[in-house]
Amino acid sequence: MWRPRGSRQRMVLATGACSIFLLVYYLQGDSSPASHSDVSSRRQGKSGRGPLQSLHYADQGHGELKPNPAIQGHVQSAVHATHQGRRELLKEACRSHTKKRRVLIPEDLKHLIVDDKHKMLYCYVPKVACTNWKRVLMVLTGKGHHSDPLKIPANEAHVPGNLRTLSEYPTSEINRRLRSYLKFIFVREPFERLVSAYRNKFTRRYNNAFHKRYGTKIIRRHRADPQPEALERGDDVSFEEFVYYLVDPHTQREEPFNEHWERIHSLCHPCLIHYDVIGKYETLEQDSRYVLQLAGVDSQVQFPTTGKHTRTTGDMAAQFFNNISPFYQRKLYNLYRMDFLLFNYSVPSYLTFR
Ligand SMILES: *[C@@H]1O[C@H](CO)[C@@H](O)[C@H](O)[C@H]1NC(C)=O
Repeated sequence: MWRPRGSRQRMVLATGACSIFLLVYYLQGDSSPASHSDVSSRRQGKSGRGPLQSLHYADQGHGELKPNPAIQGHVQSAVHATHQGRRELLKEACRSHTKKRRVLIPEDLKHLIVDDKHKMLYCYVPKVACTNWKRVLMVLTGKGHHSDPLKIPANEAHVPGNLRTLSEYPTSEINRRLRSYLKFIFVREPFERLVSAYRNKFTRRYNNAFHKRYGTKIIRRHRADPQPEALERGDDVSFEEFVYYLVDPHTQREEPFNEHWERIHSLCHPCLIHYDVIGKYETLEQDSRYVLQLAGVDSQVQFPTTGKHTRTTGDMAAQFFNNISPFYQRKLYNLYRMDFLLFNYSVPSYLTFR
């Protein structure tokens, strides 16, 4: 099951080698509460109603803007309210928990996949249904001439170059898309995502690339008296050792985290990029349908529903945390704290550091 090794390996192991330093997108002092409607009224003036306008029309709800009848009834207002709540919470959390503002650089936009045909930007987060979203976007962008997402092999969805990312565009083109496209992201409870990454990358025989690249290093640094065979193969990393690796300050000084355990906050910059939809893994089906409806493509493609039974759940995560001491639980929580705060996830009840 380990096929196009070269490309996949390059993709999964790729760490920021590129270092163009270009100032791209100044945050337009977006701390005022009126900024969302500012954006929408500016858009309103334009002819042709894109998905974003439909979204912001639905947001207003005070009769100033005419509701779009095509959207009304199509997407329920309760759903709109949920998403508006998430955006407001995110904005407020960004305001109170991020200190200095900075400017986006193209390097920051490597996870934003572009669909120019339907004016969508999707920030992919590994371990949050990103394979299925990439498949859907391949169908929508006409890549590989597929019409059924599930007919696209998983590895094909991850081949770099099959989908374009925003970082590949010139600055003005980046800004234009950031201003006018439907921007969405899918997030997940941070520790479930982390346990899912651990299970997938360190407990499956076939993930040799990860064992060699990370497993050997983790064992060398974080296991007392390792067996020569374990050092060589790196295929039996325990969750505890993985946690030691993550919280060790040396790890991130050496190189950025691999994208499977990098924080969503660092992959998708949700305080700098104003996502229109914050989808959640916990409500994946509904939220995916919502995105496809907003983009007006729900009749063209369906979000695949697969593999539910293998999902990492909260109960499962709790078991993995059994062995982790309160001291390390706290360190790990602090590491992923922004993802908890920005996306409204509470401190898991199984943690014992409080
Ligand atoms: C945040 O989470 C709490 C607890 O799960 C929930 O009751 C609330 O509705 C959420 N808020 C938003 C804005 O999603």
